Amino acid sequence: MNMKLRLGRLRGVLLALALLLAATAVVPVLLLGAANDAVVVAPAPPPFNASRVRAVSWQPRIFVYEGFLSLEECDHLVRLGKKKVQRSMVADNGSGKSVMSEVRTSSGAFLDKRQDPVVSRIEERIAAWTFLPEENAENIQILRYEHGQKYEPHFDYFHDKVNQARGGHRYATVLMYLSTVDKGGETIFPNAKGWESQPKDDTFSECARKGLAVKPVKGDAVLFFSLHVNGEPDPLSLHGSCPVIKGEKWSAPKWIHVRSYENSPALEDETEGCTDKSEFCAQWAAAGECAKNPVYMVGTEGLPGQCRKSCKVCDS
Ligand SMILES: *[C@@H]1O[C@H](CO)[C@@H](O)[C@H](O)[C@H]1NC(C)=O
Ligand SMILES: *[C@@H]1O[C@H](CO)[C@@H](O)[C@H](O)[C@H]1NC(C)=O
Repeated sequence: MNMKLRLGRLRGVLLALALLLAATAVVPVLLLGAANDAVVVAPAPPPFNASRVRAVSWQPRIFVYEGFLSLEECDHLVRLGKKKVQRSMVADNGSGKSVMSEVRTSSGAFLDKRQDPVVSRIEERIAAWTFLPEENAENIQILRYEHGQKYEPHFDYFHDKVNQARGGHRYATVLMYLSTVDKGGETIFPNAKGWESQPKDDTFSECARKGLAVKPVKGDAVLFFSLHVNGEPDPLSLHGSCPVIKGEKWSAPKWIHVRSYENSPALEDETEGCTDKSEFCAQWAAAGECAKNPVYMVGTEGLPGQCRKSCKVCDS
């Protein structure tokens, strides 16, 4: 018997085994690590539980979902946000361009859609809760409000045409709280019907006494609608973020539009030329579709239709 040879072989086998084990252990770490830097061991998401949802107002429609996100999911979003926060902008009322403003003093960053498994799962949950498709939504934004920072009451729908071209008006907002704020930082709806009767103890800030207020609690989410069901903007949806008095506020709004935000004709064709966007336009127009199906064929001022040329609504 050649013991040396045997031992040599055994060592070889053991080494191969060790490498294999190491490889299987390392691969998932690398895969997740590549996307997030930090390793994410995705814990089980909280089960969707409709009985955790409370309607807090019907004019405007506001709902609070307690424990919408797990605490780990909150920490994960904050970690992603911390990497790319910068001073938040607001849309200029006329031009729609992003501008810096004293109205909004938080810092923020947009994540990518489906950036990683945790983000994908949250985006799916938002679609399930709101009954609105993921493609209608903007990317999740991560916001940080430090001491004294706030967002004066504003509407989430836009007055300018530029911001409506992509997906139309913002229809609904899901505002997720990623931290619990010790004092202040409430989301406030100053126009909500009957807000005066909301009981408030002295844990609410002064600012929160001027409307219906929702306290930021880590993992909770607020859903509210900026449009009526008929598509008209709802001025009662005015809302703001009270100044943070103690602690730090991290939140993540998700804005959801009436139409697809991802596949918007405005993305393909910014110019409002007099064109047909389908080869069948002449045929459809001859069949009377311009009158029967004007939204698709002719479109609106903010969002031109598919067959403006064949419907003869512009000069070429
Ligand atoms: C759903 O939430 C309610 C209220 O918090 C709780 O009592 C119930 O046990 C939950 N159900 C499930 C299936 O988690
Ligand atoms: C924005 O413009 C609309 C109409 O163009 C006007 O009614 C509204 O008051 C303006 N809002 C602000 C905050 O200036």
